[in-house]
Amino acid sequence: MPAIILRIILTFSILCGPRVVSGLNGPRNVRVTSYNMDMVLEWDPPENANNVVYKTEYNTSVSDYRDGCVNTTELRCNFTSQVVFLTVFGKYTCRVRAEQGGERSAWVESSSIVMDKHSTIGPPSVSLVPIGANMDVSITDPVFRISNLRGVYNQATYNITYWKKGQEEKAKSMSGVQQNRVVLSKLEPWTKYCVQVQINTEMNANPSQLSNVTCESTTIEEETPWMAAVVTFVVMAMVMSLVAVAVVYRKAISHLLCPKDSLPQHLKEYLLGHPQSSISLAIQKSQPPEEIYHPVSIVAEGNKEEELPLEAGATNCNS
Ligand SMILES: *[C@@H]1O[C@H](CO)[C@@H](O)[C@H](O)[C@H]1NC(C)=O
Ligand SMILES: *[C@@H]1O[C@H](CO)[C@@H](O)[C@H](O)[C@H]1NC(C)=O
Repeated sequence: MPAIILRIILTFSILCGPRVVSGLNGPRNVRVTSYNMDMVLEWDPPENANNVVYKTEYNTSVSDYRDGCVNTTELRCNFTSQVVFLTVFGKYTCRVRAEQGGERSAWVESSSIVMDKHSTIGPPSVSLVPIGANMDVSITDPVFRISNLRGVYNQATYNITYWKKGQEEKAKSMSGVQQNRVVLSKLEPWTKYCVQVQINTEMNANPSQLSNVTCESTTIEEETPWMAAVVTFVVMAMVMSLVAVAVVYRKAISHLLCPKDSLPQHLKEYLLGHPQSSISLAIQKSQPPEEIYHPVSIVAEGNKEEELPLEAGATNCNS
């Protein structure tokens, strides 16, 4: 008898088994990643999932789960802007579940992340300026989503690798460099050098991603050509801007130098033809500064013969 019952139960469970599967499958391959101190949860959809939306949550080592993305149809949630008080030293765990109609899958949890330890540090950028046979290397840190390189890793150092173009196997490295501006000295003149930089930190087990390889040619040994180039450039720039100004304002300038409206004939005659007039005499005598005001006082006393031509000139200008 028990054997028959067992067989019946077994048969039932085989028949009904697939249909009894409760609810929705959870998302698969749930992983949390961080690049330049952001925090992103990604996942794959559950098997046979249609019209599924997802809900995500995060917790910290001191707080319970809180909402992240809700009702999202994407397969990722960027927590960087979702987390309240996201810090680079916090420890976070994220989880996601699928929802479909009234059904909900079980939560699927990610591994936990400590951002200063686990975040991938992006590549620094490098620019080179040759100074004679030396090379000035400037390094710009990757931009972090929260804080900055020195704020997170105050012991960060640069590993600067450089080589003559085409001779990468003979590359030299300067590691442990803390300042972001370095001069590579005693290089060969007129030679193309390439530079690549990586950031090392003590907290993060992985060094940063490698910068782009940047190449630049050295010039000759003295620094004078460089200075001369700068001076030439500045002079050229000034000349060019003067020319540009002259071209743009050529009408105004030509108008100023050669006015279209010539002075009225009687005014010309008056100004040129009467060297004995009181104004021209005053101008001739006006070398000492005290006497500059002398002609003004004469006009103010109301010599009508002298005022008339000036008024005529003004009227002519207005017309
Ligand atoms: C998510 O979707 C459900 C069902 O459509 C809705 O009841 C709920 O209000 C939505 N939540 C948010 C935060 O939009
Ligand atoms: C610096 O970078 C070079 C080239 O990538 C590498 O061989 C060397 O081990 C690095 N040094 C340090 C201290 O990381």
